[in-house]
Amino acid sequence: MSATNSIKLISSDIHRGLAELVSKRKTNYDKNKRNTLILGLPLCKVDLKRESNNEVSFSIRESVRDEDIYIVSQISSGDVNDRLLELLIMINACRTASARRITAVIPNFPYARQDRKDKSRAPITAKLVADMLTTAGVNHIITMDLHASQIQGFFDVPADNLYAEPSVLRYIKENIDYKNSILVSPDAGGAKRAASLADRLDLNFALIHKERAKPNEVSKMVLVGDVTDKISIIVDDMADTCGTLAKAADILLKNGSKMVIAIVTHGILSGNAIKNINNSNLNKVVCTNTVPFEKKLLLCPRLDTIDISGVLAESIRRLHNGESVSYLFRNSPL
Ligand SMILES: *[C@@H]1O[C@H](CO)[C@@H](O)[C@H](O)[C@H]1NC(C)=O
Ligand SMILES: *[C@@H]1O[C@H](CO)[C@@H](O)[C@H](O)[C@H]1NC(C)=O
Repeated sequence: MSATNSIKLISSDIHRGLAELVSKRKTNYDKNKRNTLILGLPLCKVDLKRESNNEVSFSIRESVRDEDIYIVSQISSGDVNDRLLELLIMINACRTASARRITAVIPNFPYARQDRKDKSRAPITAKLVADMLTTAGVNHIITMDLHASQIQGFFDVPADNLYAEPSVLRYIKENIDYKNSILVSPDAGGAKRAASLADRLDLNFALIHKERAKPNEVSKMVLVGDVTDKISIIVDDMADTCGTLAKAADILLKNGSKMVIAIVTHGILSGNAIKNINNSNLNKVVCTNTVPFEKKLLLCPRLDTIDISGVLAESIRRLHNGESVSYLFRNSPL
């Protein structure tokens, strides 16, 4: 990337919240002042409308020729398919407008749970989504806490999988009496995540082992580890209907835990999630803003949020300047 190319940020009009936070971030971490132009840029002017037949109509109202484009897309549970198609159309519009490089910033990668053929005649939709993004003309992907990290290999273009862990770590240190806590993984698959956080906080971790019959259906749960008189911090990559989290909270309390807090990266919170949280023993459910849930925050006083826009802004700056992003795997920018 030559110094003359500037960064342009694009977002759809719906769920602009995260893109606006990213655009306002001033990240000037670089001590060498190499290319000090940092974010703090306004979002590119775009028109995104629905035709009367519901087709998406999109145009960019300023030149993007030879620019380094970042399209920030915050995909929620209610309208995942609409947002995905809009993203593809926005990428393609930049491609045909001769952008030099197009990066899709999709912190909550859609269809990430459909990453393998787990039964006969099941599609691998995560791979299909990756192919569609590439076909639309994307050159680079930035995402966060992929449900399965091998999805990175589905792309024919480079994909950076950022971690929410440094931001979660900061939240725990600033908001929870963590010295009296224990990290809990709600399933065997998340043990690595809980163990890694426990290690960095110098705490123990516990594990809930469960046997699941069907997706979103919970069967028997067994706790491994001692949570007596501790604050249990459940960590996971996503929370959907929160049924599993609520059951985990019951078990932890039964086994002597004095408080249960859940921290998840992607707060999908679909279906009866809010009702389930209201009726559960969870004292708090903390989600990052990879998924828009501002409205749900107002509905449920037990929800809290961790802002990851700083991580995205810093990764954009590093990518633009050709610097390594691996610093962000361990550290969270202010
Ligand atoms: C948790 O509580 C259940 C039921 O009270 C008990 O059977 C189990 O042994 C306890 N587990 C631990 C690890 O304390
Ligand atoms: C959850 O609880 C809050 C207040 O505690 C209430 O305002 C809200 O309506 C409840 N939502 C549901 C879906 O039960």
